[in-house]
Amino acid sequence: MTTTLTIRRPDDWHLHLRDGEMLKAVLPETTRHFARAIIMPNLVPPVVTLDDARAYHGRIMDALPQGAAFDPLMTLYLTENTDADDVAAAHASGLVKAVKLYPAGATTNSASGVSNLDAVRGVLERMAEIGLPLCVHGEVTDPEVDIFDREAVFIDRVLEPMRRAVPGLRVVMEHITTADGVEYARTGDGDLGATITTHHLMINRNHMLVGGIRPHYYCLPVVKRARHQKALREAATSGEARFFLGTDSAPHNDAGKESACGCAGVFSASNTMSCLAHVFEEENALNRLEAFASLNGPAFYRLPPNETRLTLTRQGPVDYPAKIETGVGPVTLFDPGHPLLWAVSEAAA
Ligand code: DOR
Ligand code: ZN
Repeated sequence: MTTTLTIRRPDDWHLHLRDGEMLKAVLPETTRHFARAIIMPNLVPPVVTLDDARAYHGRIMDALPQGAAFDPLMTLYLTENTDADDVAAAHASGLVKAVKLYPAGATTNSASGVSNLDAVRGVLERMAEIGLPLCVHGEVTDPEVDIFDREAVFIDRVLEPMRRAVPGLRVVMEHITTADGVEYARTGDGDLGATITTHHLMINRNHMLVGGIRPHYYCLPVVKRARHQKALREAATSGEARFFLGTDSAPHNDAGKESACGCAGVFSASNTMSCLAHVFEEENALNRLEAFASLNGPAFYRLPPNETRLTLTRQGPVDYPAKIETGVGPVTLFDPGHPLLWAVSEAAA
């Protein structure tokens, strides 16, 4: 049986770091294992312009733990007022690696998102021209559509028409949660990627709802039925280049989660690599963990893979704290509900 596994240092292609005290507390949880991450722009107010991204990048660099080698890859939050020239300048600067599309009202801090795609057509066309990827939160917000169907409906109503309307646009389907998402991702060639989160590989809606409601499993897009989880596990462990890791680690403090109207988000930065080794071992695919966590993402983003390495060891139950303390209250770490046997034993920066 394999008991150690050395892979290129992984990257996280979808991460929420927040700002201020929360940023300070969660950043080391990511930099411990990951070399780079695509940083989500849904702050309040959002990161909309190149200047906003520069300023936020500066705050992240200031919050880095001493000695950490970490490269935050910045994104811009697409609004109906986004200026195509600013987007092109952001791309040319090298600092900004993607633009994020939130349908208005779809999730946390998405009020400034897009209601009318025609309003951003010029920006999308410019992005297609310069090869800047669009990261898409793929859920419709139509109140008539059941929350468990919102991803599948988005693909038909929005994603496919958008990709037809803007040929050449490079798109990342963020945090896919359904067999429909997997299937659609497979219709693309090199211009369509899909990230998959750690928690969507480990839990389905039964874990969230049977025997009591577990607010720390609530996220958006919400976890679906077991057959979708199975499709995601098959996709992630397939080795196919279009699928790569985006944890969507999204910290909220316990007060925000454990509430009559709890926030969406699962915080998984600290134990993601242990979780993934667990899943890939269960799927007899440990030899494809590196593709998912360390190779496919950089290839999509046209960046070199990391030169440094990370070693995982199967050493028996690993202790992770239940919570991390932050200046704005405790944040509960994702708990898959069973022991994790793989530990990161070496992660030289
Ligand atoms: O669960 C989620 N949390 N999904 C999102 O799309 C946003 C994120 C957040 O920012 O908390
Ligand atoms: Zn997210």
